[in-house]
Amino acid sequence: PPLHTLLNLNEIEEVAKTQVSKKCWAYYFSAGDDLFSKYYNGSVFRSILLRPRVFVDCTQATTATTLLGHRVGTPLYVSPAAMARLAHPDGEAGIAKGISGFGAMQLVSNNASMTPEQIVVDAQPGAVFGWQLYVQTTRAKSEAMLARINKLRAHYKCVVLTLDAPVPGKREMDEKSNLEAQEVVDSASNDKSDTEKRPGGGGVGQQLFWGTAADLTWDTTVPWIRQHTDLPIVLKGVQTHEDAYLAAQYAREHPGSIRAIILSNHGGRALDTAPPAVHTLLEIRKYCPEVFDTIEVWVDGGIKRGTDVVKALCLGAKAIGVGRAALFGLGAGGWKGVERTFEILQGEIETCMKLLGVKDVSELGPRFINSRMVERD
Ligand code: FNR
Repeated sequence: PPLHTLLNLNEIEEVAKTQVSKKCWAYYFSAGDDLFSKYYNGSVFRSILLRPRVFVDCTQATTATTLLGHRVGTPLYVSPAAMARLAHPDGEAGIAKGISGFGAMQLVSNNASMTPEQIVVDAQPGAVFGWQLYVQTTRAKSEAMLARINKLRAHYKCVVLTLDAPVPGKREMDEKSNLEAQEVVDSASNDKSDTEKRPGGGGVGQQLFWGTAADLTWDTTVPWIRQHTDLPIVLKGVQTHEDAYLAAQYAREHPGSIRAIILSNHGGRALDTAPPAVHTLLEIRKYCPEVFDTIEVWVDGGIKRGTDVVKALCLGAKAIGVGRAALFGLGAGGWKGVERTFEILQGEIETCMKLLGVKDVSELGPRFINSRMVERD
């Protein structure tokens, strides 16, 4: 069907399913164990109700904001997700093209299917990218990658360190599809010579994780990254108020190091029954709200509607990421499918803001939601 006839993200996902290979679908759709966290990420938003105000002039509503001091057109961003070319030859550069009209930030996966240079080659002026790092057991490989990103700092404005998946989750659907690494791994960080040494089987997730370090710690990892780049560091995969507090404390003690955290359970793809970002946001609000004043708090997982985005903003998130939605958009129609996905979500965010009686995202706060259902814990 023509893209403009698709009216929401579920419809785009359905079309993507018919367009991409079975193996691609299994990799993108899959999540850990029983997919509980994957589905709860989305359904938790249904237990939060909005509280619209009336008699407010909301002829105009703007989603423009800043992330790490950079102007962006929207708090919506693309989460780092591996292997976009599995869905469509437009790949990660196609995602960049698709979102370019919205001024959205794009975080690029360590296991992207295109090099960091290729992805930004046609980037719009002012477009903001970030590079996601899976620290490799051979540290020199990650150091070499950071050196490449430093050279591309006109485009890449942060390094995102993913912490929630020191080992891959047990993704049975992906494992069943049993994709061999050699078929797909054209990734930026892992040179081809490695693929010979990779064990076969286990699905795309297992294959891509080969060579990823599981020994990262507070004491050693961030100082080591600081030695190799002065780009702001974003910690991805924070799932408790304790770790959010430690990140903020680290940021206070080492100015210019950690500038943001991403509350994420990896789209449910790592530890199943790990909490959705909304729960972690509520924990932070309760136990250490000063975190919001020290570092930016971004979230991802389960975003399907503009109202989901607005609710996260109300709870204190500064930015909201979509992982699968961008990949499904790409699968449904290449870069134009990504554009349609963002057009839909942006439209829904603006409609939601106007119906709430809000002109600017900075006005959003807890008074616009009733989160009693999820706040009880
Ligand atoms: C991911 N995610 C991810 N995260 C990361 O830090 N590095 C990566 O390489 C990947 N790869 C990846 C591949 C695929 C196919 C998916 C679906 C996800 C996780 C991603 O950044 C994000 O946390 C989730 O996708 C957010 O959940 P939703 O939006 O997919 O529900």
